Amino acid sequence: MSTDAVANLLHESRHFPPSAEFAAQANAQPGLYDLADADRIKFWESQADRLSWHAKWQQALDWSDAPVAKWFVGGKLNVAYNCVDRHVEAGYGDRVALFWEGEPGDTRTITYAELKSEVSKAANALLQLGISAGDRVAIYLPMIPEAAIAMLACARIGAVHSVVFGGFSAEALRSRIEDAAAKLVITADGGYRRGSASALKPAVDEAVDASPTIERVLVVKRTNQDVAWFDRDVWWHDLVDAQSDQHDPVPFDSEHPLFILYTSGTTGKPKGILHTSGGYLTQASYTHFNVFDLKPETDIYWCTADVGWVTGHSYIVYGPMSNGTTQLMYEGTPDTPTKSRWWKLIEKYQVTQLYTAPTAIRTFMKWGDQFPAEADLSSLRLLGSVGEPINPEAWMWYREIIGNNNCPIVDTWWQTETGAIMISPLPGVSATKPGSAMTPLPGISAKIVDDAGKEVGLGHGGYLVLTEPWPSMLRGIWGDMARYQETYWSRFSNRYFAGDGAKWDEEGAIWLLGRVDDVMNVSGHRISTTEVESALVSHPAVAEAAVVGATDEVTGQGIVAFVILRAGHEHDDVIAELRNHVAKEIGPIAKPRQVMIVPELPKTRSGKIMRRLLRDVAENRELGDVTTLADSAVMKLISEGLATGGTED
Ligand code: WTA
Repeated sequence: MSTDAVANLLHESRHFPPSAEFAAQANAQPGLYDLADADRIKFWESQADRLSWHAKWQQALDWSDAPVAKWFVGGKLNVAYNCVDRHVEAGYGDRVALFWEGEPGDTRTITYAELKSEVSKAANALLQLGISAGDRVAIYLPMIPEAAIAMLACARIGAVHSVVFGGFSAEALRSRIEDAAAKLVITADGGYRRGSASALKPAVDEAVDASPTIERVLVVKRTNQDVAWFDRDVWWHDLVDAQSDQHDPVPFDSEHPLFILYTSGTTGKPKGILHTSGGYLTQASYTHFNVFDLKPETDIYWCTADVGWVTGHSYIVYGPMSNGTTQLMYEGTPDTPTKSRWWKLIEKYQVTQLYTAPTAIRTFMKWGDQFPAEADLSSLRLLGSVGEPINPEAWMWYREIIGNNNCPIVDTWWQTETGAIMISPLPGVSATKPGSAMTPLPGISAKIVDDAGKEVGLGHGGYLVLTEPWPSMLRGIWGDMARYQETYWSRFSNRYFAGDGAKWDEEGAIWLLGRVDDVMNVSGHRISTTEVESALVSHPAVAEAAVVGATDEVTGQGIVAFVILRAGHEHDDVIAELRNHVAKEIGPIAKPRQVMIVPELPKTRSGKIMRRLLRDVAENRELGDVTTLADSAVMKLISEGLATGGTED
C-alpha cells in the first residue's frame, strides 16, 4: 500500500457531525453501540426479530464448525415473503416498491401488491420449468424490474440464484454457469445503454451452446431487437404472464443457500461466494435501516449499483425490500441523453437517499458543477458511498455540490464476502471525516494487525481483519471449501483477512487504504491481475503477460499490462487487438487502460514476476530496489520500451 496515502490522510482534520435535527430523528441512536457491546449475540438476535420467521431459531450462532458459521440455527423463514408478502399483509400493498425508469425515458411503477403477484407468477413459472429448491439459476439481465423479480422468485422457491453482471462476456457467463452447474438462465433480448439497444441474448446463446447443464433459457423482451431462437428458449411474457399470481411461500431453513455471487480473487478462477438466508437477510435489513436511516413511509431511496454486483443484491433487493422501501431503479448510463440525467431523476422522483460509488462521483466532478446545478436536489437528505476508498476531495464535492452541505455522508466498507455493510458511520451519531469509513457498525468487530498478526495502535496501519463471525458472512466458496479456508482464514489464525490495508487515525477512525493482494479495484469492481493475465496469454500473439493496477484519477485504478509478444506478431494493431481480446474474454470493464509491449519481464531469481517494479513503471515513479532482479538490465529495457506502450480512449 502507498505510504503517501497514509501521510496525506494524517492531515485530514475536518469533522462533520450530523445536524441536531437529523440526529434527533435518526433510526440509529448512540445506544445501539452500547446494546451491541453489552451482548453481541443477543444484539444480533434482536436484529433477527426485524424479520418474520415461520419458526423461531433455537441457537443464535453455532461457530463449532468454524470458519463456517450457522446463524439462527433451526429457524425457518422465506426470504421473498419477508421482502414482499408481509408488507402487503401489513396493509402496505399500495405502497410503491419500484419506480423504474428506462434509459429511453419509459417508466414503470410497481407497488408491493403488484410485486407480490409478479414474484408469485415468476415462482410458478420456475416450478413449471422444473426448477426446485437447491437448483442453481443464472440471471443475466439489464437493470429492469424483472431482475429483482427473478431473484425474489428464486428465493421464494428456494432456488439459488447466481446473478452474472450483464457487462460480462459470454465466456465469463459460461464459466460461471459451469462452476455452479446452473439449470436455467434468465436473460433478456437486450437493454438500453448510451442511447441504443445493446444485445444480451447472443452472449447467452454462445455461453449456453457450451453449457450442458442448462436446460432452458427464459427471455424477457426489453428492446424488441431480433434474436436467434432455439428450442430451449422461452419468452418471459409467454410463460410468466400466463401463471397464477398465487403462490404459497415455503419456509426454508435459516442456513438454506440463497445465492452465489462470483467475485475476483488472487487467482484467475472467480470465486463463487455463497450466502445463505436468515443471517444474510438480518444483516442486510439491519444495516439498510440504520446506515441509510430508512423511513419506509416517506423516503424514496436510490442505489445506483447494478444488480449484478453485491451492492445490488444487498442494497437494491434484499435490504431495501425487507424494509418495505420505495426505491428508484434506473436502467441506463448517467450521460444519456445528457450529463444531468441522474440529477434530473433525483428531482423527478424526489429521491431522499443516494447510494453510489466514488468512481461515479469523480466522473461527475470532472464533468463539472453545471450539470447537478440543472436540477433541484433539495429532496436529498443522506448520501452514501461504496466500492473503494473515497478521496477527501471527492467526499467534499459530494457533500457540497450534491448534498448542499446538508446531508450526512455514509462511507460504507464491505465486500461480496461480508454480504452487508461492516464499517460505516451511523448517520445520526457519527461526526464524519472526509475519506474515512469511521468505525465498525454495532455488532461488528474489526481490527488492524501487522504482518505478525499483532494489533497495531492508534496512528498506525496494517491489515484489516474481522475478529468475530457476523450474520451475513459468506458460508464458503461454492465447490471449494479448502479455498475458502485458505483465502480468508489462513493468513491470520481465527481471523478473517479481508485483503485490504487500513489505518487507525489518532482518534480511532478507520481509513481504508486499498487492496494489499493482487486484486485491482477498477471503478469499484474487483478484477484479479491473474485473470487479465490469463486472458492475455490466451491470445496467440502473447508469450507472457504481467498485469498491475496503476492509480487512475477517475476509475481508482487502471489496468496496465506488460506483454511479451511471440515472434512474428509485432504489428501495428496488436495493442488494440489485445485490449479488445481481454474485453471479449472477461468483459469491457477488464479492458486494460494500457498495453505495453516489452522485451522482458522483471523476475526474481526464483522466477517470480516483480510486480512492485512494474507498478513503479506503470505509475511513472522512480524505480524501486532492483537488487533481487535476475537481470537488472531488464528494467532499463522495460522503461525504454515504454515508447511502444499504447494508451487509448
Ligand atoms: C473495496 C463491494 C474503501 C475494498 C461492496 C473491498 C472499499 C472491496 C469500500 C470489495 C469503502 C468497498 N472504502 N474500500 N467504503 N467499499 N471497498 O466485493 O477493497 O465488489 O475489499 O464489494 O472493495 O469489493 P466487492
